[in-house]
Amino acid sequence: MALLEVTDLDVRFYTEEGVVRAVDGLSYEIERGERLGVVGESGAGKTVAGLAVLGLIDAPGRIEGGEVRFKGEDLLSASDERLREVRGGEIGMVFQDPEEALDPVYTVGEQVAETIRAQTDLAESAIRERAVETLDRVGVPDPRERYGDYPHQFSGGMQQRVVLATALACDPDLLVADEPTTALDVTIEAGILELLDDLADEYDLAVQFVSHDLGVVAETCDRVVVMYAGRAVERAPVEDLYYDPKHPYTAGLMASVPRLGADRDRLPTLPGSMPDLVDVPPGCRFHPRCPFAEEACTKREPPLVDASETAADARADSHQAACLAYTGDLSGDLDFEVEVRE
Ligand SMILES: Nc1ncnc2c1ncn2[C@@H]1O[C@H](COP(=O)(O)OP(=O)(O)OP(=O)(O)O)[C@@H](O)[C@H]1O
Ligand SMILES: [Mg+2]
Repeated sequence: MALLEVTDLDVRFYTEEGVVRAVDGLSYEIERGERLGVVGESGAGKTVAGLAVLGLIDAPGRIEGGEVRFKGEDLLSASDERLREVRGGEIGMVFQDPEEALDPVYTVGEQVAETIRAQTDLAESAIRERAVETLDRVGVPDPRERYGDYPHQFSGGMQQRVVLATALACDPDLLVADEPTTALDVTIEAGILELLDDLADEYDLAVQFVSHDLGVVAETCDRVVVMYAGRAVERAPVEDLYYDPKHPYTAGLMASVPRLGADRDRLPTLPGSMPDLVDVPPGCRFHPRCPFAEEACTKREPPLVDASETAADARADSHQAACLAYTGDLSGDLDFEVEVRE
């Protein structure tokens, strides 16, 4: 049994413009200790998927279907009380903006202590000790002295370390990290990513790592799920995805990533934009942007199927793509080549 199993998840927002199908038939799983990258363009549903796992979808949003199982437990039918216990206890979360995650009127130490207090029956002195230890673990210098500082006395990078401390204080099994470094500058980002990597190793922590940065995901994750318009269009171990993408969308995404040393002007970019999720195109949602689209693609929604080339990979179910090329319904071939530069 995987640590987290998400099956056919549907999340919709009921807005004045119509029903936004933000997540639509999404399935993926995360094994214990595994780092799963979730990538895709803005609006693909990456954040909504993470919030749904945490039971944090509020009106006008609703989870309309599917299953979220964490250690076998069905989280979609869990009580609010149980969900509060899971959040911050067994599942930690870190979002993009540390300023939003931290409360300006409480000291950083108190904020870490509060998550421990909410989850354990420890005595106050032990809670404080554990908060100091956690701040130390995430690389806050002089944690005992800085315990009583307020968030505004910390830099952005240090604030994000404090957020990580609140997420990790109770030793979760899973961390949902949504663009945790996007608001930070590059050197600070590198430090946080390295820290995440070390902590994940040390504590056998599984991570759902949401990012728009394919390079960061390549360095940080074991497996990747590529989302497009609310669905998973490709899932694979990270190396297979990068060296041998199977879905035209993934290939387009990779081609549009400027690489160091590459001639940027000559790189193709992904034309067009993501459809309005109130009114998704029929058939394959990617067909209006796909250079290989045929008539069948406008009619049939491609299922996520095995796209591997070897029988062993097929048995392991390790590389999957949602494209009619892999169901035998296309007459042409997908003849894209991805040039990988190191
Ligand atoms: N509260 C809300 N009300 C209405 N629509 C929403 C709400 N939250 C998200 N959506 C819609 O759900 C879709 C998915 O949004 P989501 O934030 O998950 O995208 P994302 O992949 O995380 O994008 P980004 O890379 O920009 O963070 C978008 O069309 C978005 O407009
Ligand atoms: Mg997002």
